[in-house]
This record gives sequence, C-alpha cells and structure tokens, in this order.
Amino acid sequence: MSTSTLSTTHYSNDEIYDSQLSPRMKKLSRIHWSPVDVIMASAAFLSDKPNSKIIDIGSGIGKFCITAAQRYPDCDFYGIEQRRDLHEIALMSRKNSPSELNIHFMHGNFTELDFSNYNGLYFFNSFAENLYTYGRIDNSIQYSASLYNYYANIFYKILDNKPSGTRLVTYHGSDAEIPADYQLIEASFNQYLKMYIKE
Ligand SMILES: C[S@@+](CC[C@H](N)C(=O)[O-])C[C@H]1O[C@@H](n2cnc3c(N)ncnc32)[C@H](O)[C@@H]1O
Repeated sequence: MSTSTLSTTHYSNDEIYDSQLSPRMKKLSRIHWSPVDVIMASAAFLSDKPNSKIIDIGSGIGKFCITAAQRYPDCDFYGIEQRRDLHEIALMSRKNSPSELNIHFMHGNFTELDFSNYNGLYFFNSFAENLYTYGRIDNSIQYSASLYNYYANIFYKILDNKPSGTRLVTYHGSDAEIPADYQLIEASFNQYLKMYIKE
C-alpha cells in the first residue's frame, strides 16, 4: 500500500491499520493493540478541549496516538513505550501520518516520566503481561507478579497526584487500581472501556 493511500484511510478500521504491519505485529494486534472504535470513543472523551495533552501509558506500536491525532489535530498525543522495537515501529508509522506534528513518542519506562504536563491519560492494562503467560509480546523483559504490583502502585500514585478535572480512560482495567476520587462517567464496550474525571 502506498503512503498516500495510507494517509487517507489507515485510521478508519482495524483491518486497514493492520495491513501496514509486519506479520508478527499483525498477529499481536487482536490482544495488544487497541481497536480503532475504542480509540475513537476514548479520544472523543479525552480531547474535550483544544490543546489537551494526552498520554498513552505503554504505547506499543503507537496505534492509539496515531489514530487519535488525526481525528483531533488541535490536541497533542504522547506515548511512552518500554520496548525499543515497538517504539521504532511507532516512529515509522508517525512518519506516514498526515498528523505527524501532534504525535510524540518516547522510549522508556513510564516510572521515569514526569506526568505533570498531561491532562488526559489512556491506559490499556499495560502491566497485565506480568500476570499472564498467554499471548505475550516477546521474552525480552522479566515478568513477575511483584513487578505488576510495583507498576500498579506507581500508576495509582501518579493518578492520585493529578489535579481535579484530569481525564482518564482505561481499557480492560481494574476499578480497584484507580483512586476513589476518579468519578466513573461512562462504561461501554461490555464495560471494558471506562471513562473517569477526577473530582
Ligand atoms: C496492551 S499494550 C497497549 C498498546 C497501546 N497502548 C494500544 O492501546 O494499542 C501495552 C504496552 O505497554 C507496554 N508497557 C508495559 N509496561 C510498561 C512500562 N512499565 N513502561 C512503558 N511501557 C510499558 C508494553 O510493552 C506494551 O507495548
């Protein structure tokens, strides 16, 4: 598929998005990369005002940021990803995107990031890979239940420190890991997609 074809269509559904991926990345798609419909619903909630800064925690191949940024050009979408190969795929996809300027990818662990700049957060259960052996992305990192708890605690503290009005979307997340002052506004996609605003 040519870049010009991609730039007009590759955000509109999962099949078309997947068609640009390598066989390995395509195989991971169903379990690990957010569906386009979920991204569109999430981005509509998170991009409620112009100049919003939205971060995807564990951004993988960048599908959330790239898809959302085209639909909401007046907001900025950031992704942080621990795996270098996935980060590099995200950078390549960004190059093919017409909305390159409002997409920002960082390579690293979310534990090292300053979250004060962001008023919207997207979280597709990124730490779950520490709990389940099925369908893992690769064996390049150590997995453990204690690492899951460590990350979940840090994520909780990040949310706790955010100001009132912060918007949060979780996909396949757990309410127990969200501070109580995040008010649930909407649940959809069989209750897997949840949207919150901090009181
Ligand atoms: C379920 S995938 C979601 C990808 C993307 N957010 C999406 O919705 O398409 C979770 C991603 O989080 C990344 N991840 C897990 N723990 C992380 C950490 N501590 N810091 C940064 N990235 C992490 C994984 O490498 C994986 O790419």
